[in-house]
Amino acid sequence: MPDESVVIRPASPADVSDIARLSEPFAADGLLIVRSSAQFRHRIEDYLVTVRGSRVLGCVGLTRLGSDVLLYNLCVAAELQGQGIGSRMVAHADTLASHDGCRSLLAASRHAGRWFLRHGFTRIERHDVPPAWSALLPPGRLSQLYRRPVAPSAGPPAFTSTRQGAERS
Ligand SMILES: CC(C)(COP(=O)(O)OP(=O)(O)OC[C@H]1O[C@@H](n2cnc3c(N)ncnc32)[C@H](O)[C@@H]1OP(=O)(O)O)[C@@H](O)C(=O)NCCC(=O)NCCS
Repeated sequence: MPDESVVIRPASPADVSDIARLSEPFAADGLLIVRSSAQFRHRIEDYLVTVRGSRVLGCVGLTRLGSDVLLYNLCVAAELQGQGIGSRMVAHADTLASHDGCRSLLAASRHAGRWFLRHGFTRIERHDVPPAWSALLPPGRLSQLYRRPVAPSAGPPAFTSTRQGAERS
């Protein structure tokens, strides 16, 4: 049964330091791109956070690329992984993308590929990547790329739509 004290909501500027703190160890391990607090602040409207009370447990950035939505900087606090938080954030992203009429969720990952495959993503080759995304992919970063079709829309959106823009995965 889902823990109802755990809530997914859009991030606000007040969450910047928590998102930066949460992301830092994964960036240090090469799992996420290193981003500064200023970079998180600049794109804060992209982010969803999973919170329990005032604690940020997980986050994901969503950026619209044409008719797709790129998930980036997806992470869950290490001691809370394996409890469905990552899955819930991706499901939430799917709902938002669906209400925006988007076709696919996109993701890039160096070490979480099996996780994406288990969650309905399929691996795509670089030559099949939408042009809007390939321009953002850092040339030296050997991430695998994944795509999942967005589920058909049902019911009103939970909250804000995904923001159009350009952010690296
Ligand atoms: C990937 C990540 C967001 C998943 O979050 P999570 O909350 O642990 O995911 P869930 O609880 O929804 O799913 C857990 C399941 O996935 C499995 N899993 C977790 N990480 C995995 C990985 N890297 N590869 C394969 N499976 C993984 C768990 O064993 C668990 O399996 P189970 O359901 O059989 O018990 C989290 O592991 C994370 O923060 N990783 C570091 C950052 C990262 O690599 N992000 C992806 C690049 S954008």
